[in-house]
Amino acid sequence: MKVVTSVAGMKALARQWKKEGKKVGFVPTMGYLHEGHLSLVRESKKRADITVVSIFVNPTQFGPNEDFKKYPRDLEKDSAYLEKGGVDCLFYPDAAEIYPPGYRTYVEVRGLQDRLCGKSRPGHFQAVATVVLKLFDIVGPGLAFFGAKDAQQVLIIGKMAADLDLDTEVVTCPLVRDPDGLALSSRNAYLSPEERKAALVLSISLRWAERAIAAGERDAAKAIAGIRAAIEAEPLARVDYVEAVDPVNLEPLAEICGDVLIALAVFVGSTRLIDNIRLHV
Ligand code: PAJ
Repeated sequence: MKVVTSVAGMKALARQWKKEGKKVGFVPTMGYLHEGHLSLVRESKKRADITVVSIFVNPTQFGPNEDFKKYPRDLEKDSAYLEKGGVDCLFYPDAAEIYPPGYRTYVEVRGLQDRLCGKSRPGHFQAVATVVLKLFDIVGPGLAFFGAKDAQQVLIIGKMAADLDLDTEVVTCPLVRDPDGLALSSRNAYLSPEERKAALVLSISLRWAERAIAAGERDAAKAIAGIRAAIEAEPLARVDYVEAVDPVNLEPLAEICGDVLIALAVFVGSTRLIDNIRLHV
C-alpha cells in the first residue's frame, strides 16, 4: 500500500492512473477505522481498479466546543487494517497541506446543509462539502463511497456532485451495526461500558418506530413522540433531535408515507451519536 502525504504526490499518482485508464474508487474517512469503513473499502474493491482511502481529521467540520482535539486517532492500527483490506493507496495529509495559510474558499449546499444535524452543528456541512470537493479534485475518483450511517452527509455530497457536474459517482453503502444493533462509529470509543449499554436506545427506539409503522402508524408526530419517550426513559441519554423527513429534500413530514428517513441525534453522556432508518411505506 502506497502512503501519500502531499497533495502534489497524490495528484501525480491520480494523473498516472488516469493515463493507464484505471478506474479509481475513493473512501474518504477521518480514521480510527472500523468495520463500517471497511465495508466501503470492500465495495470499492469490487467496483474499481484502484482503491484509495484518505484519513484526515478535518478541523473545520468540528464546532468550537466539539471533540476535534480528542477525536480518536491510531494511524498505525489503521494502516495495518487498510493494508490487510487490500487498499492500494492511503492519502494522509496534514491540515496545512489541505488548508495552507490564507485559505478562503468554501462550498455550500444550501437548504440541505441547514437541516437535521446542520441545526445543531452550524457550518459543519459546509466544511464537509468543502473538504470532500478538495479530496475529489486531488484523488480524481470515478466512484466515491459513503455510508448510509451519515444519511444527510451522503445526500449533500451527492447533490454537490450533481450540481457541480463532478466526474465522481457518489455511492451510498448500507449502515453497518454491531450485532446488538449499535451503529458502528469511531465515537463509540468514547463510551464507558454503562454508556455503551445505554446507547442501544438509539437503534431500539428506531426499531420500535419501524414496527409501529409496519402495524399502521402514519402520524409522524406520534412516531417521533414514541421514539423520544423511549430515549428520555434512558437516564444517560439526551435527545438532540428526532425527525421524520423526506429523504430527498430533508423537509419534515406530517404523514409517514412514501419514502421516509427517520433520523436522530442523541447525547449519551457527553458523546453525540447519530442513527437513522430509511423506510418505504
Ligand atoms: P468518518 O466518520 O470517518 O466516516 C467515513 C465514512 O464511513 C463515511 O462515509 C461514513 O458514513 C462511513 N461510515 C461510518 N460509520 C459507518 C457505519 N456504521 N456503516 C456504514 N458506513 C459508515 O464521515 C466522515 O468521516 C467525514 O465527514 C468525511 C466524509 C471523511 C469528511 O471529512
